[in-house]
Amino acid sequence: MEKARKIVFSNEEIQAKIVEMGKQITKEYEGESILVVSLLKGSFIFTADLVRSIDVPVQIEFMTTSSYGDGEESTGKVNIVSDLNTNIEGRHVLIVDDIMDSGLTMQVIANHLKSFNPKTVKTCVLLDKPERRKVDMTPDYCGFVIPDLFIVGYGLNYGDFYRNIPYIFSFID
Ligand code: IMP
Ligand code: MG
Repeated sequence: MEKARKIVFSNEEIQAKIVEMGKQITKEYEGESILVVSLLKGSFIFTADLVRSIDVPVQIEFMTTSSYGDGEESTGKVNIVSDLNTNIEGRHVLIVDDIMDSGLTMQVIANHLKSFNPKTVKTCVLLDKPERRKVDMTPDYCGFVIPDLFIVGYGLNYGDFYRNIPYIFSFID
């Protein structure tokens, strides 16, 4: 039988937070356009809501990274499974992911993208688990700071399931 669920953030809470984040991003990029680089698969739902709350011109690209395998623990090695195939030189790049954990994914992707001479590179996550950090990374935009807890839903997966659940929850043992 499936374990019981504890709701961590309701869909209403998530949507309200994303409206706030969108306002902040809109203000800080006023007069510019943004190239959003969304990291699949985890951030596809967050990205879809976030970009609709941003009111400056936005283009969206996707990259696929992997580090997690099927379980709850990162393998610690970030692989680029699918790279960008667009020119980002001189662009304001905003990397969007669902969650920052060790920080390795963002570090690897940010460094990779910086090598193509974008104008700026910033990072945006819905969730941050700073207690788990292994590298010196802080997201430029962050929705919620959470303790060291494995969560799923709203794009986040366990065994590639639960991404479609509209709220974020943890399992109760
Ligand atoms: P990092 O490279 O360790 O920062 O891990 C970031 C990636 O790990 C995210 O893109 C997620 O895909 C995954 N991840 C980290 N924590 C969780 C979690 O609590 N639930 C589901 N996925 C997670
Ligand atoms: Mg991920």
